[in-house]
Amino acid sequence: MNSDRSKLLVGEAAAALVEDGMRLGLGSGSTVAYFLTALADRHLDVAGIPTSRHTAARCRELGIPLLEPADVERVDLCVDGADELDHDLTLVKGGGGAHLREKVVAGLADRFVVIATRDKLVDRLADSFALPIEVVPFALSPVRRELEHRGFEVTVRTGASEDEEYRTDNGNAILDARLPGGLEDPAAAEVALSLLPGVVAVGLFVDLADTALLGDPQGEITEVQRSAVA
Ligand code: 5RP
Repeated sequence: MNSDRSKLLVGEAAAALVEDGMRLGLGSGSTVAYFLTALADRHLDVAGIPTSRHTAARCRELGIPLLEPADVERVDLCVDGADELDHDLTLVKGGGGAHLREKVVAGLADRFVVIATRDKLVDRLADSFALPIEVVPFALSPVRRELEHRGFEVTVRTGASEDEEYRTDNGNAILDARLPGGLEDPAAAEVALSLLPGVVAVGLFVDLADTALLGDPQGEITEVQRSAVA
């Protein structure tokens, strides 16, 4: 079974958790795309806050009503993907550049369900997948130098061409920062990196995810609860 099939299965499993009348957080990425299709197929009376322009556009195509953060104090359920997760359900996100809005929306959720393929479960975060850090363009060089000083291998994310810097939906740049050996203490790293002037959002999601639905190549889904992990 290929990873697209695993993504489809976890997307469908997450859509099955949605109940009529729910207000949703709608994540971003290729796994979420399967969730959105499966959600639309259920024809429920729901509405959701999209975490990227791309997700908003897809929801319009599918007929899923949209909300803004100003419209609701809380959402019942947020469903989003991840680039990496560890056994505490701490996530690395932002491979698609949407982690700032994703973190805002995840923070509004009564329940946050992550959907991903099982190969994204790792022992140490930010070793194999570089940690995305959204930075205001003015601060790109100082933040990059500081990250390198702290042992990270840093690349500036590029856009459509190699000479063009990537820009997020918020108009910011992204530094992808890999730490050889991975992060020892992701919670401390999130705080420390967030304090660097010019950093807008670090792609670490600590104590946010409640449940992960992980699809494996055999078509099995493993459900992991944050409260159940050490
Ligand atoms: C976007 C994200 C995505 O959730 C993450 O990149 C996973 O994407 P995919 O499901 O395509 O692997 O954080 O900012």
